[in-house]
Amino acid sequence: MTQAKIGILTISDRASQGLYEDRSGPAIRETFLDYLSSPWEEVYACIPDTQEGIEAAIIKMCDTDGCDLVVTTGGTGPAPRDVTPEATEAVCEKMMPGFGELMRQESLKFVPTAILSRQTAGIRGKSLVINLPGKPKAIRECLDAVFPAVPYCLDLIGAAYLEARPEVISVFRPKSK
Ligand code: MTE
Repeated sequence: MTQAKIGILTISDRASQGLYEDRSGPAIRETFLDYLSSPWEEVYACIPDTQEGIEAAIIKMCDTDGCDLVVTTGGTGPAPRDVTPEATEAVCEKMMPGFGELMRQESLKFVPTAILSRQTAGIRGKSLVINLPGKPKAIRECLDAVFPAVPYCLDLIGAAYLEARPEVISVFRPKSK
């Protein structure tokens, strides 16, 4: 089985300056370690909230590193420096609005401020890019909602085959026509 590559991109001015420790990137790593039974390797970066820098990091992870999936955390809110969704949209050929819709709907069960996240997802080449909010606790809340559809999405774009542990998360692949 080909080894999948997952990009973990933390977008935070303060974490990238070392003013605090990045806890959201590691939460993404822990979640995939828990979910996946198939082999995968990680590409990690922690960068400040600039649209140019975010676009460059997503492009590098997709085109140079060959990530099948890139998960960003942070920069999805309404504050002036929150530009992750804009950067995502600028580098993706196709947007996948259902991801953001479902994550906001699920997140509302945990926080009334869920509607403040503009998180989205999109396809760049053979990579799926998904935005998550910046709070460490939001990582699992959001990934649990959308991950069941991620492996099939990767199948459809010609990315790596992901297998999950059914006792942890059940993924859905429609039967072939
Ligand atoms: N979604 C979940 N699941 N859990 C959360 O704690 N926080 C919300 C929202 N979505 C939150 C959430 C808040 S308070 C904000 S401001 C937005 O995500 C944007 O967060 P970001 O700017 O750090 O990406």
